[in-house]
Amino acid sequence: MPSTPMTAEPLLSVRGLGVRFRLPQAEVTAVDGVDFDLARGEVLGIVGESGSGKSQILFALMGLLAANGGASGEARFGGRNLVGLAEGELDRVRGSDISIVFQDPMTALNPFMRIGDQLAEGLIVHRGATRRSAWAEAVAMLDRVGIPDPAARARAYPHQFSGGMRQRVMIAMALLMRPAILLADEPTTALDVTIQAQVLDLIAELARDSGTAVILVTHDLGVVARACDRVMVLYGGQVMEAADVDTLFAEPRHPYTQGLLAAMPRLGGETAPRLGTIPGSPGSDAAPGCPFAPRCDRRLPRCTVERPALVDRPPRRIACHLEAADAAS
Ligand SMILES: Nc1ncnc2c1ncn2[C@@H]1O[C@H](COP(=O)(O)OP(=O)(O)OP(=O)(O)O)[C@@H](O)[C@H]1O
Ligand SMILES: [Mg+2]
Repeated sequence: MPSTPMTAEPLLSVRGLGVRFRLPQAEVTAVDGVDFDLARGEVLGIVGESGSGKSQILFALMGLLAANGGASGEARFGGRNLVGLAEGELDRVRGSDISIVFQDPMTALNPFMRIGDQLAEGLIVHRGATRRSAWAEAVAMLDRVGIPDPAARARAYPHQFSGGMRQRVMIAMALLMRPAILLADEPTTALDVTIQAQVLDLIAELARDSGTAVILVTHDLGVVARACDRVMVLYGGQVMEAADVDTLFAEPRHPYTQGLLAAMPRLGGETAPRLGTIPGSPGSDAAPGCPFAPRCDRRLPRCTVERPALVDRPPRRIACHLEAADAAS
């Protein structure tokens, strides 16, 4: 696994990222004080169970939160803060600098448009390419993502593709814009294990070859082991632990990370089972302490009343009161 030099200026620098939603009776916090850096060509995994805030982090970066949501904090990219960027500027960023692959490819593809035209459109609109050259590039990218007979397949419509092929089309569409950053939300969940491995290898290869930085959201640690350089473990909208993949798998220190790893059947095997969700409402603002405290079998009295800070303990960052307790003993 290549280690990522963090000496260079990060491509994306996220500090204190928060996402809140207004509901008729209350406000919920979906993402709370998330910090991370992303380097060129790096693949960062974000793991956590359903509802932990993974997708909302990506949506906040892209300005795609639901109408009742709002983001706060900083996401520095190219000298700008993506949080709170005007819609017009965001459009430009979304069109070319940052691409996203959504969880469900069917929702993002137009059923009435040929695959080749959907791929070519972005190049024509954002890059000023001619239809002819855009079509040729689209076919070449379909080939690159492993679509057989790409010239003929480019003339087909989405329903003529299998789920796995549609997912590849989505990835081709995102990569065609040669984004600086690719955001991929569970890009392989719908695929069978063999295709999943191929798609992950393709993403990692493209990151390596073109310097594209990738944020790969998943609930599956097998996916992380296969494709990521670094990983950030999220719980209740907060970062519990973050480290390079080798460190995290060899020496998980946060009780939640340890629980996740213990629940993983075997690397590269069937998808890992999801941990059950904690009783109560995750992300509710009522509990002042560590969000994992109610499920933690090593919790200290202070864990339920005081939120642990995310601190640097090289080679990891961790938010856990046990760290301070261990350091003191
Ligand atoms: N429009 C909304 N209004 C209120 N709450 C919302 C809204 N959208 C998302 N949430 C809440 O935000 C929290 C985080 O959601 P998010 O979609 O980021 O989870 P996730 O980690 O991506 O989960 P999954 O693995 O199921 O995709 C959840 O508790 C969810 O219910
Ligand atoms: Mg999600």
